[in-house]
Amino acid sequence: MLIRTSDNGFIHPNSSEFTPRAVYEGRRNVLRLMASGVAGAALAGWASREAFAQAAAARPGKLAALPGGKSAVTGAVTMEAPTDYKDASTYNNFYEFGTDKSEPARYAHTLKTTPWTVEVDGLVAKPAKFALEDLLKLSPMEERIYRLRCVEGWSMVIPWVGYSLAELIRRVEPLGNAKYVEFITQADKATMPGLRSGVLDWPYVEGLRLDEAMNPLTLLAFGMYGEVLPNQNGAPVRLVVPWKYGFKSAKSLVRIRFTEKEPRTAWNKAAAQEYGFYSNVNPNVDHPRWSQATERRIGEGAGLFAKKRKTLMFNGYEAQVAQMYAGMDLKKYF
Ligand code: MTE
Repeated sequence: MLIRTSDNGFIHPNSSEFTPRAVYEGRRNVLRLMASGVAGAALAGWASREAFAQAAAARPGKLAALPGGKSAVTGAVTMEAPTDYKDASTYNNFYEFGTDKSEPARYAHTLKTTPWTVEVDGLVAKPAKFALEDLLKLSPMEERIYRLRCVEGWSMVIPWVGYSLAELIRRVEPLGNAKYVEFITQADKATMPGLRSGVLDWPYVEGLRLDEAMNPLTLLAFGMYGEVLPNQNGAPVRLVVPWKYGFKSAKSLVRIRFTEKEPRTAWNKAAAQEYGFYSNVNPNVDHPRWSQATERRIGEGAGLFAKKRKTLMFNGYEAQVAQMYAGMDLKKYF
């Protein structure tokens, strides 16, 4: 895979420069666990709150090198410093727990993540219902440091833990007429107070074209910063599609459905003129109510002191994804 080495911040993952920059607050033990393939019981345990508590206790100490060497990191990585864990886990969009950025961290403790299953069906030869434990073992975990650019004009850099969604897609064998993938998320009135609001038509649904879903950058994420996902970040399993606006990265997935027709997404239903199906990060296509040319990196000042960065085409992942849109009018298919 070709990875940019220019000024957009990307490096080749094998670059010797990577390791020093990967030294962020250490979560070494959990990462080692994941890489060592202790899989079975350990990984299943990893998904439990108890393991999360242990991981948190193991936090101090530096992450000298990723387990398994640098090959543990594949895909695009960025040299940019990861956003503080505290910011990434307290400034969230998860409308099922409220529309204010601080609400998911305050209220998502009610989300019940065990037992959890993800149903994979629709136009596939081998539909299946995966218990979370089995999903965790489906493919080796990797850490991927991705930018996440929200449509609202802010961005973060987050070390995610998971594997390419393509790994799961291959197992279920999409049929020839499967053109799109629909992602359906948890909608449980008993545990998600935000569902009482009519701001979106629940459940929160997202969609990708099949080739986008198969792109190796598209991540099925179970953790971040070497730990299981906090509830407010979409536990126990979410999507991360780094070249698209953050709302495409659906949280707390319960069903993945293969379809022939383009799925109707929650944001498209709520405001079709503002949120198109594609939603690729594009500094040249403004949101009807604001420019998308710049962004504010969370943690880099606020209000008058907020530093503005230029937003990059496809959020900086142009080399890996632009060919999927060759010949398409990206103003029309926004
Ligand atoms: N998934 C669900 N189920 N509900 C949501 O409200 N918000 C989206 C996306 N996934 C959302 C969701 C938006 S707008 C963004 S920017 C990202 O999640 C935020 O992810 P983060 O809180 O982990 O940064």
